[in-house]
Amino acid sequence: MVTRRLVLAAAPAVLTGASRPWSEVEKILASGNVKGKLSKEDLPTPSLVVDLDGLESNIARMASYLKAQGRGFRPHAKTHKCAEIARRCMAAGAVGACAAKIGEAEVLAARGIKGLLLTTAMVGKYRIERAVRLSTKQPDTIFSVDNAQNVSDLNEAARVAGRRVRVAVDLAVSGRTGITPGAPAVGLVEHIVKQSNLDFQGIQAYAGHCAHIVGFENRKKGSEEAMGRAVETRRMLERKGIACGWLSGGSTGTYNIDSHIDGVTEIQPGSFLFMDIDYNRIGGKETGAVYSDFKNTLTVLATAYSKPSDDFVILDAGLKAFATDRPFPPEARGVAGSKYTFSGDEHGKLDLREVAAKVNLGDRVELVIPHCDPSVNLYDKLIVVRGEQVEAIWTVDGRGKGQ
Ligand SMILES: Cc1ncc(COP(=O)(O)O)c(C=O)c1O
Repeated sequence: MVTRRLVLAAAPAVLTGASRPWSEVEKILASGNVKGKLSKEDLPTPSLVVDLDGLESNIARMASYLKAQGRGFRPHAKTHKCAEIARRCMAAGAVGACAAKIGEAEVLAARGIKGLLLTTAMVGKYRIERAVRLSTKQPDTIFSVDNAQNVSDLNEAARVAGRRVRVAVDLAVSGRTGITPGAPAVGLVEHIVKQSNLDFQGIQAYAGHCAHIVGFENRKKGSEEAMGRAVETRRMLERKGIACGWLSGGSTGTYNIDSHIDGVTEIQPGSFLFMDIDYNRIGGKETGAVYSDFKNTLTVLATAYSKPSDDFVILDAGLKAFATDRPFPPEARGVAGSKYTFSGDEHGKLDLREVAAKVNLGDRVELVIPHCDPSVNLYDKLIVVRGEQVEAIWTVDGRGKGQ
């Protein structure tokens, strides 16, 4: 929790919201030139806030871990949808960024992000045309495929455009998208390598069902089994003389499992950047019940804007401020014993009956997010802070780019 009293004590008077007119704050926010000019207390709420010290530490930890394992690092941008974060990951050693949708990839490419990997196939009206156009702009982009007709269609579009397009075969290791590992996948690759304008890169294999398995040993068992099928497919291709030097997969929950599997060459985690309550619950290798390999860096900053009784306050962050797909609510940081319940589109109720510290009308409350990816997609901007001070504002470039 950030109370007005605490912020007043911590920051010079000129930085506090109490003494500053909104017109001034508004101008600073609009200019984007915020460093040293605003504190968290100045921010309008609800705001999506990312802690930069924590983000930098998460990026450094993942990058150095994977480097030590000799694996590539291609973080999934579906989590943050923000070119600035993709750039920072690349500065730490990432080879590029994954994208879930062509719209996300297009906007990242327009902001200069290279090494893009589309993790699902380009099926559906206009997607092939857009894929070929993106390949023209950024030839190192890799597109996932899982169907022979789609491969032929992509090749034909590339041929007509006079382009070469890089493709990876998406393996169904999680019961979502992809082609069945083993013989069916090998058959598809044999079809790919016969195409005139496609360049086969290797295997995309995301075992999403393993990412949140509770307990490290259970997760390890699940992921080794799933990724083992991908590695076996790679070996089958190699036995047939088809070069397959690249196999990408993994997640925040399995990075320290998959990066130890012989044959997996690259890890594509996303949530480690922000973390969320969902991930906190899965348990770590060394940390027991709480998964704390990475820091919780993402919060929604809210204001207590009604206090009908001493038992609870109403916050200005409700269903529109968080993704609500998880069966547990946001958690108010630093308000031990409080319980948040969604209380409508714009309202959240914070139960204070078990809380020792007071939360008063106008106080700021920071809430840890249940599920980071879809929550980020609700905001245009990430407010980047170091401690109490606002450091930068980053655009969520891929917000709503789900087409
Ligand atoms: C294909 C793919 N790869 C990687 C990830 C990253 O997973 P996580 O955010 O759990 O690290 C996701 C997330 O949904 C995904 O869909």
